[in-house]
Parts: sequence; structure tokens; C-alpha cells
Amino acid sequence: MKDYLIFLAQSHPQFRKAELESLADLNGIQVDFSNHNIEHPFLLVKLNNDEEAFKLIDRAILAKGIYELWGVGNSFDELHYNIKNNNNLNNLKEPFINSTFKFENLTFQGGKKSRDEQIKIFDNFSYLSFNGKIKMKNPDQIFTILEKYSLGNDLFPLDKPDKLYFGRQINLSARSKGIVEKYDIKKRPYFGTTSFDAELSLFTSNIAQVKKGDLIYDPFVGTGSFLVSSAEFGGITIGSDIEFLTLKGKGPNKRIKDNFDYYKDPLNYIDTLCMDFTNNAFRKNLIFGAIICDPPYGVREGVKVCGSNDENKIGRENILIDGKLAYLRRDYIQPKKMYSLDLLLDDLLQFSSERLEIGSRLCFWMPVANDEDIPTMIPQHKELELIYELVQDFYKWSRRLLVYVKRDKNYNGTTIKSENREGVNNFRERYFHKFSKASKVQ
Ligand SMILES: C[S@@+](CC[C@H](N)C(=O)[O-])C[C@H]1O[C@@H](n2cnc3c(N)ncnc32)[C@H](O)[C@@H]1O
Repeated sequence: MKDYLIFLAQSHPQFRKAELESLADLNGIQVDFSNHNIEHPFLLVKLNNDEEAFKLIDRAILAKGIYELWGVGNSFDELHYNIKNNNNLNNLKEPFINSTFKFENLTFQGGKKSRDEQIKIFDNFSYLSFNGKIKMKNPDQIFTILEKYSLGNDLFPLDKPDKLYFGRQINLSARSKGIVEKYDIKKRPYFGTTSFDAELSLFTSNIAQVKKGDLIYDPFVGTGSFLVSSAEFGGITIGSDIEFLTLKGKGPNKRIKDNFDYYKDPLNYIDTLCMDFTNNAFRKNLIFGAIICDPPYGVREGVKVCGSNDENKIGRENILIDGKLAYLRRDYIQPKKMYSLDLLLDDLLQFSSERLEIGSRLCFWMPVANDEDIPTMIPQHKELELIYELVQDFYKWSRRLLVYVKRDKNYNGTTIKSENREGVNNFRERYFHKFSKASKVQ
């Protein structure tokens, strides 16, 4: 086993370990992430080889890059001492002794260095005595000095780093290659008020372990954020939503399909269907590789299902207009009635238990009000193992990314249905009555 250093992103640190674990598992890589500390920007791991390191980081969103570790120190002097005394140094150097190369310097919380300051730092590594030529553009190898600075009492970085690492770059993550900017919601042809943040959608698709050719379903598709993030990783995507107008988009060239054309992934899009999830029309033996969604919170968009509470509207299935059954006409608009998020989540778990491949994942975001000291009851189903409950905190509310794995019939997990959660997760009511002025739902 060899030592590698992962440079983590300082964004959503509470989701980083789950993403790395999911990517390791997806690639069949055994790795211990127990050193992970959400306060720390670096993570040391042991891996078999560079190929594992490359794959682990390649599509990561919450990591920046991975480096074969040559030395660590609490000061530059200590770093150089440890590199020079690394028993394995010759083996590490030998394959690259004649390669073209360059040095680079990355810092966490450190200020920007002038070119002269950087060159001075690089010159101090001359004892490595590489024979290859320095090449600034596309060198064979990049050697990186990574520095961590702590903040002083005035919250400005201290003058000297307190942790330094030196290593050979193995791979930069999808994040470092610009994927989060690529999926920026505002750059898409079609987006709306419910569009889910690009960075969060992308790492959700990673935690869902979307892979090439998997059939991915978002039952509350809205503007399709999870479809495009899953298509990026090779998923073949399909969605449904009860709101016809959402699916219709904002006019020509401003529909979900246009986002796929914009990202040059048109073949990864099957279609979106106008459908009430609780009256699901997919054939019973259609099996999905992952189900990913952001169910309606009941704040910006109501939790609605087909039907009516109005007695006069019930039992009108046989009404004819111009000799045709009204509900078969193209201009028919189905009446809708309010439903509860709790019941909808029960339906989602039941559906997922029936329609996911064994070992595949259901990932969804659930809003939770933090205003009272009541434990949050997470929905559970006996055939779905809850593997992650990850929290994104806002002021008076939070949302959780819940991740379940579909297990076979012999698995006898916990069941927690809505009747055991009633009054606990009534997010909509508490949002409007208790903390609507104090916080903002995204
Ligand atoms: C939070 S939004 C999802 C937003 C989506 N992730 C996006 O990026 O735009 C929830 C969606 O669920 C839809 N919805 C509400 N009730 C539904 C139902 N019974 N069946 C299907 N979709 C429903 C709403 O119309 C809304 O578009």
C-alpha cells in the first residue's frame, strides 16, 4: 500500500466522506477514510496504486485532487528533512527522473505568493535532481507543495504554514476541471425557482453511484437538475412531475430537453412524463439503477396528488364532452388535491423498495424544521437500508440527504411509517407559522 494525500474542497464538508466512500465502493476500492476530519482540508489515505487513486478522485465534487505523498512537515525545514530521509525516495523518483515536469504550490487559507517567492520555494527542492526538462504546459509530471495556514486572532492567515505536504499529482477532480461551473443553474437554457443547486445535485449523483448505462429516475423532476447531473456520469435519465407547465418549460429552446442538448448529452435523456407519482404509470417490472429526488417541500410548490376534496367533482369520470370522455381529451386538466409530505415519503420508500435493483440507491433531500427540540424521525422501510443521513443546516431549518440501499427480501430492516412520524415532520405548517420570517427556503 502507498500513501496518498487528498486535497478536499472546503464546501459542504459534512458530505465529503460519504461522497468519497460512495466513489470508492463504486470502483471496488478498499480504503479507510476514518482519518477524515471536517475541519481539515487534507486527508491521508492508503491505496494500492495510482490507478486506484486516479479513479477515486476523477469524478469527485467535494475533493480537489490526489497526490502520491513524498513527505510531510510542520515547517519547510521539517518537510525537506522528511523528504530527504524518506527511505522510499529513490523508488518514488526513479520512474520520473527523465520526465518533463513542473512544480506548483497550493495553499489552504494562505495568501497568494509572488512568482519570485514561488521560484525560491521550488529552488529549494533542487536536491531531487530530476534530469528532465521543466515544461510549464502539459508536463509529464507535476510536483505539488501543499501548505495549510491557520488563522490568527484577527482572522487573517498567519505568516507561516503549520502543515506542509509534498507529492506528485495523480489526478485532479471533476470539480477542479470546472464541472460545478459547467452546471451552474443560471447558464442553462431552462431553470426555475425550484432548480436544485448544481454542486449539490452533482455530489448527490455521486453518492447515488450513478454509472454508465444505469436507468435513473427522478419522480419529482421539476426543471430536471438531477437528470442532468446524473447524465454527466453516464446515467440514462427519465423523470416525471405532476405539473404540466413545469415540464412544458418556458417556451421553445427552454425545456428540460434543451438542457441536455446544451450539455451535449441528448442520448442520456429518455423523456419526462406528466404524472402524479402516487398514481405511477410505469410498468411494475421496470427496474431503476437509482432514484434521486427533491420531493416537494410544500412551500414553493404544493404537495399535490390527482383527485379532489370537492364532493361535486368526485365520480365524474363518465362525463362526456362532444361525445368523448372528458378525461381522454387533450385539453383535460386533472383536478388535484393537497397531500402530505409524510405520506408522499412513505410512497417513495415503498416504490423504491419495489423498483430498485438490489444494491442500488435511493437518495432524496428531506426538509426538517429545527425550531423545536423534537427528534427528527427519518422514514424507513424494511427492505431499504438507511446508510447516510447527512445534514445541511440553515438557520431555523435544515435539509437532510437521506441515502438508502435496496436490500433483498431476507433483509429485515426497521420500518418507520408516517403514522409514527405525524406531527413531527410537519414542515410546511411550521415553516409558515413559526419561522417564515426568520429563514429562507432555497
Ligand atoms: C422541489 S421540486 C423539485 C425540483 C427539481 N429537483 C428541480 O431541480 O427543479 C418538487 C416537484 O415535485 C412536483 N410534485 C408535487 N407533487 C407531485 C406528485 N404528486 N407527483 C409528481 N410530482 C409532484 C412539483 O410540481 C415540483 O416540480
